[in-house]
Amino acid sequence: MSLPQPGTDHPDALPPTVAAVVVLAAGQGTRMRSAIPKVLHTLGGRSMLGHVLAAAAPLGAGTTVVVVGAGRDAVVAHLSDVAPGALPAVQEEQRGSGHAARVALDAVPDLEGPVLVCNGDSPLLTAGTLAALVAAHTAAGSVFTVLTAEVDDPTGLGRIIRDGEGRPRAIVEERDATDEQRAIREVNAGVYVANAGTLRRVLAGLSTENAQGEQYLTDALAPLVEGGAPVAAVRAEDPVDVLGCNDRRELAARRRVLNDRVLDELMVAGVTVVDPATTWVDVTVTVGADAVLQPGTQLHGTTRVAGGAVVGPDTTLADCEVGEGASVVRSHCSGAVVGPRATVGPFSYLRPGTRLAGGAKVGAFVETKNVEVGEDSKIPHLSYVGDATIGTGSNVGAATVFVNYDGVAKHHTTVGDHVRIGSDTMLVAPVTVGDGAYTAAGSVITTDVPPGAMAVARARQRNVAGWVGRRRPGTAAAQAAAAAGDAGVAPAADTRPGTDEGRPTAPGTNLDQ
Ligand code: UD1
Ligand code: CA
Repeated sequence: MSLPQPGTDHPDALPPTVAAVVVLAAGQGTRMRSAIPKVLHTLGGRSMLGHVLAAAAPLGAGTTVVVVGAGRDAVVAHLSDVAPGALPAVQEEQRGSGHAARVALDAVPDLEGPVLVCNGDSPLLTAGTLAALVAAHTAAGSVFTVLTAEVDDPTGLGRIIRDGEGRPRAIVEERDATDEQRAIREVNAGVYVANAGTLRRVLAGLSTENAQGEQYLTDALAPLVEGGAPVAAVRAEDPVDVLGCNDRRELAARRRVLNDRVLDELMVAGVTVVDPATTWVDVTVTVGADAVLQPGTQLHGTTRVAGGAVVGPDTTLADCEVGEGASVVRSHCSGAVVGPRATVGPFSYLRPGTRLAGGAKVGAFVETKNVEVGEDSKIPHLSYVGDATIGTGSNVGAATVFVNYDGVAKHHTTVGDHVRIGSDTMLVAPVTVGDGAYTAAGSVITTDVPPGAMAVARARQRNVAGWVGRRRPGTAAAQAAAAAGDAGVAPAADTRPGTDEGRPTAPGTNLDQ
């Protein structure tokens, strides 16, 4: 799924304010302790990198450069999925954020004008925060502007050093800071706007004389100040926006914040979220007004829930569509369409290609896949329905299986309108049950059933009279049978006259009387 793409035709496009966006995404992410590159870890249905790109997209930059290094193949593959217009720039060795920014600018040698540079691990950045930073940069006539935040716990972050008049002088990494500097609570967000030419010059002169022996992007500020260039440090309105993400604990905390934002927006728009603590909704999901999300609901991917629908409790929907007034209770669904007023669950599993028309019902313990269920048709209990088309007003009895796989290929079953499939029917595909037809309970249907017919396909029943009394003497069952008048003797013939409607007739061969 592609993110909103940068450019002037973006729905939230602001006047173009930066010539380029650079995302630094080459770091190892050692603290994640992961085989997956850090920026590909996901929250709210998007990678961290995807969130940064989405926040920057409305700036409308003509060029987006993403610096890749650690796990580069995976990052490049991901980029071609979510931001095909972005240019990956390879940083062979991770020599620091300053070096990474240099690699990015080297990839676009003719670039001029203001450039937004972002860490790739700041998934809570918003378009508004970035736009405000760019606007402040432009208004101040600055050549280098850093986004900052006042935080309660600045541990691990770069500190913003200001002079007596409040002007930014330097950014000092925690490891290189004095005790006095460590007490500063204004930190570097890892987001900068800089004039491309100025940035190229200053990055070329970065040293590696610091605790980590790296070229720090943060070291770009001090020499500019010393040279008298206009620089600025702009505080983010909401410090939460700028929080980075270096390990799994931070990932969980950022995910929580992101989710709270999504739920807040939904509630403001008229969605009832019964228990925000246990409800998880991806940033890509839409929910209509007066829908109700019950506790334990998770909505992922491209899921769309229409107004008045009820989802949950304890339901997961991935890439699903739920129509107006529908309900999905304690179920797991992916790639399914639940029509208006349709009901699902409790305890059902709807797999890709399931399409329930208006008013249809999938009840308890039902699995469906690649099936079209017509209006007001019902699959109430304990069934598997795969590769099928079911017409309108039909009923599929309990414990029916659509036998769609012969061990080599999948086959299709067609069930017409107003059909009654009896309980425990096996519909062996390919097979068609015509409009208005019935199948008898327990039937194995292997050939087509014409419209209006009753298909009976099962062994006939025979009752071996007196069997319990003879073969299980002395048991509770034998006693109960005796009390009911059973003498426990072998019959001369079958106990009941036969009918031609599936009831027992002749006793047949009896080996165990
Ligand atoms: C960085 C800042 C710090 C700031 C913090 C905000 C530096 C030196 N420090 O610290 O002041 O408070 O972000 O979260 O920049 N990267 C590369 N190539 C490299 C090294 C890093 O592309 O060689 C990328 C990383 O993938 C990451 C970003 O640069 O997205 C920042 O690197 P990271 O190691 O996370 O820096 P922090 O220690 O968090
Ligand atoms: Ca970081």
